[in-house]
Amino acid sequence: MQRHQLLARLHELLQPRTYFEIGVRKGRSLTLSRVPSVGVDPFFLLTHELHCDVHLVRTTSDEFFARRRPFAHFPEEVVDLAFIDGMHLAEFALRDLINTERHCHPASVIVIDDMLPRSVVEAGRGRVGSADGGAWAGDVFKIVDVLREHRPDLVVVELDTKPTGTVVVLLPDPTDTSLAAAYEDVVGDLVVPDPQEVPERVLTRAGAMDPADFLAAPIWPQLRAARRHGTDEARRRVREAYAAAGLLTNTAAVAR
Ligand SMILES: C[S@@+](CC[C@H](N)C(=O)[O-])C[C@H]1O[C@@H](n2cnc3c(N)ncnc32)[C@H](O)[C@@H]1O
Repeated sequence: MQRHQLLARLHELLQPRTYFEIGVRKGRSLTLSRVPSVGVDPFFLLTHELHCDVHLVRTTSDEFFARRRPFAHFPEEVVDLAFIDGMHLAEFALRDLINTERHCHPASVIVIDDMLPRSVVEAGRGRVGSADGGAWAGDVFKIVDVLREHRPDLVVVELDTKPTGTVVVLLPDPTDTSLAAAYEDVVGDLVVPDPQEVPERVLTRAGAMDPADFLAAPIWPQLRAARRHGTDEARRRVREAYAAAGLLTNTAAVAR
């Protein structure tokens, strides 16, 4: 399954009230949204027609999040579905995740692209993978281990999508500050010169789920319904749905 097919199905199943995208480029992924949307990219150049009420912001994600009310465009300033596909470097993707989570609720779904590079070259921090027209995943794959170590409460699901794999982050907690607190220490380990050490598990996608199986999980009605509840009750219901669907067993998620 291609990443855009995954995203299209997520729009159908989750029926998000709002959509947020970091890294718009030509609008290929943003064209899938039909709901109030915010897209951020310093260099977007649209060639795809958009079908949503969208606020496009020509800036970096860091500058966007530094704004006083970045999601003022939304009727309710909360993100239901997010796609993080901006700068393909681990420290950028980690910041994008930390900042996005602050605007989520327990039933939000955060998708991160390029998380399963197929080779060391594709995972390079220099844009070597794309020099011959191939994909550039960069070293964003490293943030899965960071999440598993520092945020075992999150449900982190690796999906075997084409071309460069995706990760879905579930059960976000906008009040959690542990990743932000760990950021400076973590980044020192993340930012190392090429060639990157890409674990075999990543290259072979040993821990990745078939995206069709993930989409078939019986969680979507519960996620939609959870929006009607306050944070604690929503978290309890959503977590229960993930447990019933077996999504907690192959991740490091634990009860809080
Ligand atoms: C892989 S493309 C996005 C593709 C798009 N999501 C899609 O699927 O059609 C990555 C984009 O991220 C943008 N980008 C690079 N650095 C960024 C940053 N710091 N903040 C936001 N976007 C950034 C680039 O300009 C580029 O257009």
